[in-house]
Amino acid sequence: MSDELSVPVRSEADLVTARQRGREIASALHFSSSEQTLIATAISEVTRNILSYAGSGELKLSLVQQGRKMGVSITARDNGPGIADLFSAMQDGYSTSGSLGLGLPGSKRLMDEFGIVSEVGKGTTVTMTKWKL
Ligand SMILES: Nc1ncnc2c1ncn2[C@@H]1O[C@H](COP(=O)(O)OP(=O)(O)O)[C@@H](O)[C@H]1O
Ligand SMILES: [Mg+2]
Repeated sequence: MSDELSVPVRSEADLVTARQRGREIASALHFSSSEQTLIATAISEVTRNILSYAGSGELKLSLVQQGRKMGVSITARDNGPGIADLFSAMQDGYSTSGSLGLGLPGSKRLMDEFGIVSEVGKGTTVTMTKWKL
């Protein structure tokens, strides 16, 4: 397995692929089955957001290392409309699409590190990492 994997995001099928690849990497790092599910859930949420709000984008999955710690890092990038109110977007229950509004704040809770950069008219990048303790 290479250290970085790119998954194009254009359709529901890509969402399934992204989840599977996330589980594979997590399993290779000996994350528990329930941790693999948490990672796959966070991957689903950010991939779903790309499909819903940007139409298409890209997911990058990578093995990361910090000292003796290993982890899995996920970057979800799109060139969609961006998020005007990032603070609100990170609140539980905030949704511009009448959805649950738990995708971003939920993913932040599931992962150890979470960052989001977004520019209106340019796009959105979410980066998150889960460390194997
Ligand atoms: N990639 C994205 N591009 C543009 N807007 C986004 C993106 N991801 C999230 N958003 C905005 O942030 C809001 C909150 O996202 P999220 O927490 O996943 O909740 P939900 O998708 O259920 O609305 C969305 O309703 C949307 O307005
Ligand atoms: Mg969402």
